[in-house]
Amino acid sequence: MMTETPNKVLFTPERLAKSQEMIARYPEGKQKSALLPLLHLLQEQEGWTSPEGMEYVGQLLGIEPIEVFEVATFYTMYHIKPVGKHVIEYCRTGPCCLMGGEEVYAHLKQRLGIDTGQTTVDGQFTLKEVECLAACGMGPVFQVREKYYMNLTNERVDEIIDELSK
Ligand code: FES
Repeated sequence: MMTETPNKVLFTPERLAKSQEMIARYPEGKQKSALLPLLHLLQEQEGWTSPEGMEYVGQLLGIEPIEVFEVATFYTMYHIKPVGKHVIEYCRTGPCCLMGGEEVYAHLKQRLGIDTGQTTVDGQFTLKEVECLAACGMGPVFQVREKYYMNLTNERVDEIIDELSK
């Protein structure tokens, strides 16, 4: 369960212990190298990388909030806006598009009734566009959390959305 006070984000005791263990892996003075894993912990707990959460992570690492923000906004894997239950991150890079991605992604958007960067009104799905997911030979590809869905077709997209909607 999340420990929270108004406008504050605090890690659960388990995540705080894990974050301290991660920070301790780095030599003295290099603790900010733990920023990426701590942001993952934050997103795992909060569902997104909120400004309050970034400030908290900055405090844990002894760095300025702007340094955290710069990193969090560089990587598409961090959600800097609230997202739906399922975040579909589809690969928009050339090889996937050449293998039918344009058509499949158009179908995906039509099926969900949203465009990139949007969330369905029921809060179930958010669509994000990302660069190469390193599965180029099996495109078109999208990722939902740690799971890859490859060799996508319009029919397969419908099946996946049906499965995730259950
Ligand atoms: Fe889509 Fe590499 S181009 S996974």
